[in-house]
Amino acid sequence: MYLSKLEERMLSGEFGEAVSRAMRVLVKFGDSVKAEKLIPITHAHISGISIFNIGDPGVSFIEDLTLRGAKFSVFTTANPYAAVNLDFNGLTFPQELRAKQGRINKALVSMGARAFTCAPYFIRRPELREHIAWAESSAVLYANSVCGALTNREGGPLALMEAIVGRAPYWGMHIPDNRAPEVLIKVPKPSSYLEAAVCGYLAGMLEPYRVPLISGLGLIPDDWVRAFLAGLGTSSQTPLAVIEGVSPEYREGLAAEVRDKVEVDRLEVMRFINENRCRVDDGETVYMFGCPHLSVKEMSEVIEKLMNTSKVIKHELWLVIGDYIRLGNELERKLLEKGVRILRNVCPVVTKLNMLGVGRVLTDSAKALHYMPKLAGVSTSLVSRFEVFKG
Ligand code: F3S
Repeated sequence: MYLSKLEERMLSGEFGEAVSRAMRVLVKFGDSVKAEKLIPITHAHISGISIFNIGDPGVSFIEDLTLRGAKFSVFTTANPYAAVNLDFNGLTFPQELRAKQGRINKALVSMGARAFTCAPYFIRRPELREHIAWAESSAVLYANSVCGALTNREGGPLALMEAIVGRAPYWGMHIPDNRAPEVLIKVPKPSSYLEAAVCGYLAGMLEPYRVPLISGLGLIPDDWVRAFLAGLGTSSQTPLAVIEGVSPEYREGLAAEVRDKVEVDRLEVMRFINENRCRVDDGETVYMFGCPHLSVKEMSEVIEKLMNTSKVIKHELWLVIGDYIRLGNELERKLLEKGVRILRNVCPVVTKLNMLGVGRVLTDSAKALHYMPKLAGVSTSLVSRFEVFKG
């Protein structure tokens, strides 16, 4: 892989041990994917920072980087961390676990991490054709497919190295010619957030590898597009979906050029939702909305609904957001009285909720439905956002 004079100096250690180490990783990876060079990036997003996922080796790895003087050289955000400060029915996580997650967060902040969220585009929205290096599948899909930015679907450690160096190997989605759709997926127009999430998930099951051209979504709210992409990114490997009428890559006539076609049927969507509904209702159940993290608009809608009704919520309700939403203590107190808790900067999906005695999570996220049984250790079912009231 070609390296500029400056990059050679970075590699040789002139800019410190951490930069040299990160450069070695990028060169090795770049060579393995036959990248011709490195390309400067403007925003890195790191994933995989839950103590439950990376354990002691992860803590040591990140802390070791800070000891070697690592600093992020570009704007950098990180995924939400494990919700280790959460309590449920009087149970809490062990202090040791909380301390370890705290050490991971502290190390990332000391290197320059600006926020912990899986919606980094609410912190800094990338522009058209901007080269970035993001991990977190739902954010990568949004950046490529809606913002028109250029990023591969990075692994968490690779994105960490790219944040330090401020560069990424030039391959895959960074090259405009690689961004053409290879298969047409026709989907039914969703009529809710939940349906959009399931449509995306089923589309990804049909085509797990190729870049799809998505037709039929129609004009839906941006948050439903996010739900669709989060679902798609769960069941497929694609970093980009060219969405009719939404993606900058989309142009009229493209559908005729794509030879292979598959279709998600409306009945399949409804069947999937019905099959994944919960039929048990007990005290170990919680509602969880915000996978990916809720937008300001979604949060306003949910709060308005909650505050303007005398109806009672059936189970504790968790709303998951990033620091880009400020509510004020008074509102949070009122929400708490109604059984609503605000979970900030965390990801319940990568938190072992079974350790708190949570038995069941009801959510409108296809991504959470897929991952929570394994990662959070709880059974998970689908529910729509406004079905949370008794009676
Ligand atoms: Fe975000 Fe965690 Fe879901 S990172 S997209 S809340 S799995």
